[in-house]
Amino acid sequence: LENPLVLAIETSCDETSVAVVRGREVLANEIASQIPIHRLFGGVVPEIASRKHLEAVDGVVNAALETAGIGLGDLDGIAVTYGPGLVGALLTGVTAAKALAFALDTPLVGVHHIEGHIAANYVQDPELIPPFLCLVVSGGHTHLVKVLDYGVYELMGRTRDDAAGEAFDKVARVLGLPYPGGPSVEQAARAGNAKAFSFPRAFRGEDHLDFSFSGVKTAVINEVNRLHQKDNPLPVADLAASFQETVVDTLVRNTLRAVDRSRMKRVALAGGVAANGALRARMKAALSAKGVQLTVPAPILCTDNGAMIGCAGAYKLKAGNIAGLDLNAVPSLEL
Ligand code: KG4
Ligand code: ZN
Repeated sequence: LENPLVLAIETSCDETSVAVVRGREVLANEIASQIPIHRLFGGVVPEIASRKHLEAVDGVVNAALETAGIGLGDLDGIAVTYGPGLVGALLTGVTAAKALAFALDTPLVGVHHIEGHIAANYVQDPELIPPFLCLVVSGGHTHLVKVLDYGVYELMGRTRDDAAGEAFDKVARVLGLPYPGGPSVEQAARAGNAKAFSFPRAFRGEDHLDFSFSGVKTAVINEVNRLHQKDNPLPVADLAASFQETVVDTLVRNTLRAVDRSRMKRVALAGGVAANGALRARMKAALSAKGVQLTVPAPILCTDNGAMIGCAGAYKLKAGNIAGLDLNAVPSLEL
């Protein structure tokens, strides 16, 4: 099967998303977001996420089929995110996918969430083929990955503490900005001066390609506490802009070093933080100065969605990488 017709389910965190893809082509990508509910609590509440996925999943499956204009009987396979993520949230999608695969007697494919994020680039750019270098920046991960072939990855660097998105979310919280923190910080930063504060950059002068974002996060928190104690009003925009600048600078710098080491001529971005306009612009400028091409998924394909899982699933299906009906959620699955 050259371009299998795959229905994909993604429920690893706070979006219930179901897509229908034909290989790299997206026929439907429905996303039922839980963000307004979790915003009330300042972050994702796992128990609520599981319940909301359970309520939403059947309806989102039907919506995706309707948008794609196909019936269940047309499908060549069912793909589902089985990790990493919140265990209860993952289990909802895995159970729905298993029920469909069993009832339709069609192959089931388990997809690694990060592999899905990387595959968003195949959806974005039909011409993109490995090898390339991918910077994966999400709420849970910060990875520099060499994509050697479809499904073949070599990790060049990773965060040793907080993920980039996690740092955005925590900094947003101390600045009093709403969940999810990334878009809120980006918006606040537009009105701010990125040079107003100088926050520490980790591992300067060290030889590896790992990241650390807990230092910059703590520096922002300390600055906020210091300003509170002096009863000064919080310069939210300047703090947001200076924080964002520090994170973007670190991400770009390590990516450039990884390009030099791997001699890759192509770079891709993936994950929710890749929706950040400052990161996209800075990365593009830095890479084009080196003659390196950059692929960046559209923002809707950067944050969690079913289409990226379907695309990764289609490649696994073609490779005969089929899961059994005993497929289980693996909350801390490694790439
Ligand atoms: O990939 P994703 O949707 O879910 C995970 O797999 O974690 O990423 C979510 C993360 C959150 O931390 C969110 O704050 C961050 O991506 N994010 C952003 C932006 N949009 C989402 N960070 C910075 N700027 C953005 N525009
Ligand atoms: Zn994600």
